[in-house]
Amino acid sequence: MPFHYYLKVHFEYKYKCNSGLVSSNNELGSGFFLLTIDIGSIYFEPAPGQFINIYLNDEYGYMLPRPFSVFNIVKYENLGSAVQILYKVIGRGTKIISQLTKGDRVEFTGPLGNGFIIEGEKPLLIAGGVGIASLNFLARRFKENKIEPKVLIGVRDEMSYRAFNGIFNNLDIQFSIERGELDTIFKGNVIELYSISDIDYDVIYICGPTNMLKSFEEIYRSKNIITKVYCCLESRMACGVGACLGCSIPTKDGYRSCCVDGPVFEIGEVIWKDLT
Ligand SMILES: Cc1cc2nc3c(=O)[nH]c(=O)nc-3n(C[C@H](O)[C@H](O)[C@H](O)COP(=O)(O)OP(=O)(O)OC[C@H]3O[C@@H](n4cnc5c(N)ncnc54)[C@H](O)[C@@H]3O)c2cc1C
Ligand code: FES
Repeated sequence: MPFHYYLKVHFEYKYKCNSGLVSSNNELGSGFFLLTIDIGSIYFEPAPGQFINIYLNDEYGYMLPRPFSVFNIVKYENLGSAVQILYKVIGRGTKIISQLTKGDRVEFTGPLGNGFIIEGEKPLLIAGGVGIASLNFLARRFKENKIEPKVLIGVRDEMSYRAFNGIFNNLDIQFSIERGELDTIFKGNVIELYSISDIDYDVIYICGPTNMLKSFEEIYRSKNIITKVYCCLESRMACGVGACLGCSIPTKDGYRSCCVDGPVFEIGEVIWKDLT
C-alpha cells in the first residue's frame, strides 16, 4: 500500500473524511477557479483561516492531498450547505481539480489547522493573489458582526484583476496591480500599497506567499505600529495533520507544524529570517 494511501486510511479514523458533490467549478480567468462542493447537511463549521485537504487520484493512483483555505460556506435555504474554494492552477493536483464537473464526488478532510482569532473594530486585511481565499471568509465573518473590514489585494496583472473583480460582493477593497496599468488602481505590489496607505486599523490579517509576508514584516516593523498581526502561511504540506513534519516553521518556540499549529501565526511568533 503506498505510504500516502496508508496516511489517508489512517487519518480517516481520526479526522472524519467528508465528501460532497461538485455543484460548480467556474473558471474566473487567468488560471483562477471557484469550486463549489455541495456537502448536504453534514456538520461542517470551519473558522476563517482553516483549510481542507482535498484527496485526488490520477492515472498513477492516489496523490497526496492538496490543502485549500475555505473561501466561503454557502448556506442553502432548503437546508444543506456548500463549501467553496478559490484556487489557482499551478500543477498536477490543481489541474485535476480544474477538470471536475458538476456531480463529481470530492473527498476531503477538514476543517484543519488553527484559524484566525477574530478581534478588533477596524481590521485591515492584506492578501497577495490567491491568499484572498482565507481572508474573504474572514471578511464575511466581520461583516456578520457589523464590522466593515478594509481589504488590500495584490494581483499580478490585468487578467488576474478581472478574474477577482466581481467575486467579492460588498467588500471595501483596494487593488494593486504589478504589471500593466489600469486607471484608478495602484501600480505596484500590495506591500507597497500598504506602505503608502493611510488606512486606520487596529488589527491586521495577512495571507500570501512567503516572500510577500517577509517584506510585509520589514515594512511593518519600520512603521513602529503596535497592533496584533495574524499571518496565514502558505507552507508546502503533505499529510496536513502533523504526522510527516513536512511543513515545519521556525518559531520562537522552536520548529512547529504549519498544518496543526498554524497555518495562522502571530507575526512575533515566526522567525522570519529563517523561513523559506
Ligand atoms: C494552508 C494552505 C492553504 C492554501 N489555500 C489555497 C487556496 O485557497 N487556493 C489556492 O489556490 N492554493 C492554496 N494553497 C496552495 C495549494 O495547496 C497549492 O497550490 C496546491 O497544493 C498545489 O498543488 P499542485 O498539485 O497543483 O501543484 P504541485 O504540482 O504540487 O506544485 C506545482 C509547483 O507549485 C509549487 N507549490 C505547490 N504548493 C505550493 C505552496 N503551498 N506554496 C508555494 N509553492 C507551492 C511547487 O513547488 C511546484 O513548483 C494553500 C496552501 C496551504 C498550505
Ligand atoms: S503537512 Fe505533515 S506535518 Fe504538516
